[in-house]
Amino acid sequence: MCGIIGITRKEDDGPIGKHIYDALARLEYRGYDSVGIAVIDQDHIQVKKDKGPITLVGKKLNFESLEGNTAIGHSRWATHGPPSKINAHPHKSMAGDVVVVHNDIIENFIDLRNELIALGYKFISQTDTEVIPHFLSHQLQTGQSMEEAIVELVRRITGTFAIVIAHTLEPEKIYAIKKDNPLVIGQSENIMYCARDVPAFLPWTNKVVTLKDNELAIITPEDYQIISLPSQEPVERNPHEVTWTADAAQKGGFPHHMLKEIHEQPRVIATQLATQQKQFEELGEIITHASKIILVGAGTAYYASLTAFYTFVKMGGPIVVPCIAAEWDTVSDLVDDKTLVIAVSQSGETLDTIKAVKDGKAKGCKLLSVVNVTGSSLTHVSDYVAYIHAGPEIGVAATKTYVSLALALWRIGFNLAKFTGKLNQREMSEFQQALQSISSVVADLIRKYEAKARDLAKWMSTKNSAFYLGRGISYGTALEGALKMKEISYIHAEAYPAGESKHGPIALVEEDYPVIFTIPNDHNRSKMMGSVQEMKARGATVIGIIEEGDDQMKDTLDDYFEIPKGFSRFLSNIAYIIPQQLFAYYTSRNKGHNPDLPKNLAKAVTVE
Ligand code: F6R
Repeated sequence: MCGIIGITRKEDDGPIGKHIYDALARLEYRGYDSVGIAVIDQDHIQVKKDKGPITLVGKKLNFESLEGNTAIGHSRWATHGPPSKINAHPHKSMAGDVVVVHNDIIENFIDLRNELIALGYKFISQTDTEVIPHFLSHQLQTGQSMEEAIVELVRRITGTFAIVIAHTLEPEKIYAIKKDNPLVIGQSENIMYCARDVPAFLPWTNKVVTLKDNELAIITPEDYQIISLPSQEPVERNPHEVTWTADAAQKGGFPHHMLKEIHEQPRVIATQLATQQKQFEELGEIITHASKIILVGAGTAYYASLTAFYTFVKMGGPIVVPCIAAEWDTVSDLVDDKTLVIAVSQSGETLDTIKAVKDGKAKGCKLLSVVNVTGSSLTHVSDYVAYIHAGPEIGVAATKTYVSLALALWRIGFNLAKFTGKLNQREMSEFQQALQSISSVVADLIRKYEAKARDLAKWMSTKNSAFYLGRGISYGTALEGALKMKEISYIHAEAYPAGESKHGPIALVEEDYPVIFTIPNDHNRSKMMGSVQEMKARGATVIGIIEEGDDQMKDTLDDYFEIPKGFSRFLSNIAYIIPQQLFAYYTSRNKGHNPDLPKNLAKAVTVE
């Protein structure tokens, strides 16, 4: 999510603050809300940080005047605690001897924080990160070395992280550890770097060492040492040379942010599932106290809400009404003080959604927001907030945030089912199993189907129009698949509930007309077979996203993507969208468009 840079050098080649400033500016593409720098020497650690862009904060706090030979910098994208000077990184220990920058989430930070408070440590920020410098400083005071203190830290923390540490006892050293979050070392002569992404140091060196999970790097100006944790065995790893341009490096080597974000989905799913366990359990119960639920969102966020509508209905509980944010007036009169409105929004800034919930609040509803951006406008008016932890999404077309919104809503559904008793023991464990394996299944689907989606896109890019059909929850998936196709390839793609297509739309079908079917092996499958036949009989080319081993479908369809078993009943809207995202992306590219910047569209729609 956030940006990290560390520099340690032997010789002064100009103010180190200027180098940190430049590196943070090169990480701007990652999206962030605050920035900071720490310069370390034997006597003390100087920290400068604030909310705002690097160009403003760096200039206001005069980063470029900071002298020294070791420094760490960070651009924060808020997760715990809103964007502010106090919550910005780096974070220092109370004794002022240890300083830390951190990406991602320390899941058990509340327990650690309470332990440290009991030992007399005072916390000044709302971040999960602040436990790290206090913890390490405490371990140093018990006589441990920094390496031993870090081993202990890694033993104690849960979650996903990339952490870079410096301290006054060894001011020339930078320590770095990671789990499920990237960190790279850059090697140059008498100067070494450590960063979240290669672009941070690419103008200075292209010699890169990639850290692996549960490895500790100890970096000095002349060298680096990698140690595998917890065994503390040394690891030999030589640098490789990166040949990317700066632009390619910003996209992690992918040609577009959208493709990078599609590939990030397994990680963001795992990150979200590692967080907010207790909170989601509470939400399950909160829902049961409402007399009705209104789900509200726009575009992709609405489609995620629509799939949640089907889920919540099946899980039991109160009456559920899905509502497009701009159509709020239609449901406004249903709202009372027993209503729970669930606002679904990646940005938390969509004006249609904000206006809707403000009206709901005026009528006394309780408001739960499911959002990505911490501290965004929606969170300020909400009674409860569930974060999706997808990290910044740069591509205008939502991919990883759709999947993350849908996942958060499934988690609410799972916890709702615990209270309603709608699912039996076996079904609950199937659901749990689907949640546990979804991250690796998405990774496998991307690996297996990227080439096929690219091939099929060649045919699709010759078309002007397509249908996307599904039933029940898969109608929501079809809507999202069609939206992806139309917004980045400019092909008219329309989704219908499969049964509805015969009431008019089918008139458009002719020879080789593309119809994309989402067909999990659920209670609608046999009816879907009827719809496939209907389209085929009129000459359509029928492509299906189907369950693995559905031979009858395979024989009927012209082409298909197979999704492993176990996702037809639960999480189908996540598993079955993956090939459709890739299909849309490659169709857009085939047509010579830039999928990251579709015409007429903005990432956050803050007008009515
Ligand atoms: C489509 C897309 C839009 C947004 C919609 C709502 O790819 O990104 O349809 O989903 O504008 O945005 P948020 O989720 O920020 O409220």
